[in-house]
Amino acid sequence: MQVDLNRLLLSASFILDFIEMDILNDITNHGKRVAYIAVKIGENYCLTSKEKYDLMVFALLHDIGAVENLESLSKRELEKSIGHCIIGEEIVQQFPFHKGYENIILYHHENYNGQGFFDIPNDKIPLFSKIISIADYFELNYEPSNKQSLVESLMSEVGTKFSQDIVDTLLLLMKTEGFWYDISNQFILSSLQNLKLAKYKKYTLQEVKRVTGMFSKIIDSKSKFTRFHTTGLTIRVEKMCNHYDFEETHLAKMLIASDLHDIGKLAISNKILDKKGKLTKDEFSQIKAHAYYTRKVLEPLNGFEEITEWASNHHERNDGSGYPFGLSKNELDFESQLIATLDIYQALREDRPYRSKMTHTEAMYLLKQMVCDNKLNSKIVNDIDLLFEND
Ligand SMILES: [Fe+2]
Ligand SMILES: [Fe+2]
Ligand SMILES: [Fe+2]
Ligand SMILES: [Fe+2]
Repeated sequence: MQVDLNRLLLSASFILDFIEMDILNDITNHGKRVAYIAVKIGENYCLTSKEKYDLMVFALLHDIGAVENLESLSKRELEKSIGHCIIGEEIVQQFPFHKGYENIILYHHENYNGQGFFDIPNDKIPLFSKIISIADYFELNYEPSNKQSLVESLMSEVGTKFSQDIVDTLLLLMKTEGFWYDISNQFILSSLQNLKLAKYKKYTLQEVKRVTGMFSKIIDSKSKFTRFHTTGLTIRVEKMCNHYDFEETHLAKMLIASDLHDIGKLAISNKILDKKGKLTKDEFSQIKAHAYYTRKVLEPLNGFEEITEWASNHHERNDGSGYPFGLSKNELDFESQLIATLDIYQALREDRPYRSKMTHTEAMYLLKQMVCDNKLNSKIVNDIDLLFEND
């Protein structure tokens, strides 16, 4: 089975929207708008179709390093921190695709005059970084009702932040009405989808697993209490699936579902995730939303139908008392139940702001109680006891 990477990367743009939601309580479409503008500028530099596609991906992900750095910084402050460039570069270097590019994200805040986080001279800054830099500057100052001030501020940066050449290219784009419609909140997603860049090869589930493994580290890094949650869960899921003799494709899908099960948590504020005291009713309902967000991210992906179910059902319980849909035993397949049960076990074995981690015996006591309450499948719980008793 193969998966369309295009769609997977587009869902990465949802991830970045989620990060923005946390910072700003709003979706700004920052990454999407930067990506679209970057490709449009790129057209002027005679990039091949493949290069334009690669540029779009880098531009979509350009602030992905900001996820580890959320503590009450505004978007503008985040853009001023060197950390998001370094972390972002490390993250994209782990992608299995886009080989042959270096320092695109690392240098996306370097200036034409050689001043920037790393003081890199202009001729050493990759073209993609320069394009992303001006698209980013445009986006942060984007105010559709005040186009003239944007024109003036771009012109004032010629020779300092940007070259004359690249500013002229952007100014030319800004002259058409269509460009402004294309980048509006209403149309930006379809504008990006309609760029119809090169047809790309489909990726195998094993290749996709490499990408989702990286996403899982991003998800874990959001809060210090979940540093090892997803990675720990995926190890346990693998062990259990091997115990049940799942064949290769089945196993790969389970591992991907595990990697992505808490992706919706990126949309939840750290103020709530890391809160020491008891959560208010409203805060708890905000946390619950993460399972629904996970579904929304994965649902559009072709070939991810089962993965979407297994990942998004991880807070459902067999007696119908779970969330977000209150599904019950006959609506939950074995895989969903397996991930849900392991998720509880894994969470109990980790420190939380309100309690310290439990031993295997303590965690099993709670799981068995949930079996008595008809919330969990007894076979799965017994097998967890068997497989992890020495952990
Ligand atoms: Fe940035
Ligand atoms: Fe940015
Ligand atoms: Fe969760
Ligand atoms: Fe989880």
